[in-house]
Amino acid sequence: MRLLIFGKQGAGKGTQAVRLAEHFSIPHISTGDMFRSAVREGTEFGRRAKEFMDAGELVPDSVVLGMVRERLARPDAEHGFLLDGFPRTLPQAHGLREVVGEDGLDRVIELAVPTEAVVERISGRRVCADCGATYHVTAPPRQGWGHCDQCGGSQVVQRDDDNELAVRRRLAIYERETAPLADYYADGNLLARVDGVGDPDEVFVRILTAVGGRTSS
Ligand code: AP5
Ligand code: MG
Ligand code: ZN
Repeated sequence: MRLLIFGKQGAGKGTQAVRLAEHFSIPHISTGDMFRSAVREGTEFGRRAKEFMDAGELVPDSVVLGMVRERLARPDAEHGFLLDGFPRTLPQAHGLREVVGEDGLDRVIELAVPTEAVVERISGRRVCADCGATYHVTAPPRQGWGHCDQCGGSQVVQRDDDNELAVRRRLAIYERETAPLADYYADGNLLARVDGVGDPDEVFVRILTAVGGRTSS
């Protein structure tokens, strides 16, 4: 299964991608997570990416494409993958097509959530500083904020780019640069538009229905 999920900042791509990757046993490839782990590792690459991210700007296409090309060449992506947050410009979509070929994707999911709802989700988001696991002020880790469910880490914090200015900038860039991907993939009959409002488990079932998968429970 070769999938791509896109949608506004805070639409729940990461939340759903974790479930989808597990369900289909495919790697979850999130360009945002890849940049954030480079930032945590303190590399020069990470330092440069962080300047764009904190300002709510896109990292240049050539940089993102090079990183994704390398990631898709790894053996675990040979039999499928789930792309989250990439592509998010038309040049990135063209670049992806060059890497995976004309028939390189099985389904493209657009996760649709109104802007007011994503602003609320982003302002309440908290992430684990060690592993990146995502929470919300209304949905904390099982054992409380001091203990991440995934890694046991004690620092669950707000993302540096989840400030109001950067969020507004990211949403404006989304409309201009990323929203046109819907038409691009609709032309190839790949697009499935899924309502992202509601309980995350309900949204997950909608996505599985849209990709033609079956729920296991
Ligand atoms: P990236 O990390 O991809 O951020 P984003 O696109 O802004 O998306 P988010 O991660 O903010 O939102 P999400 O849809 O994953 O929502 P989540 O599941 O967390 O990119 C960050 C930056 O990196 C970019 O700004 C850019 O600088 C750079 N970058 C990355 N990729 C790039 C590319 N391809 N090209 C150029 N630059 C790139 O959910 C949000 C919150 O809502 C959470 O708190 C969650 O718990 C909650 N929630 C989720 N689902 C629900 C639900 N159904 N109901 C209620 N709450 C929910
Ligand atoms: Mg995300
Ligand atoms: Zn963690």
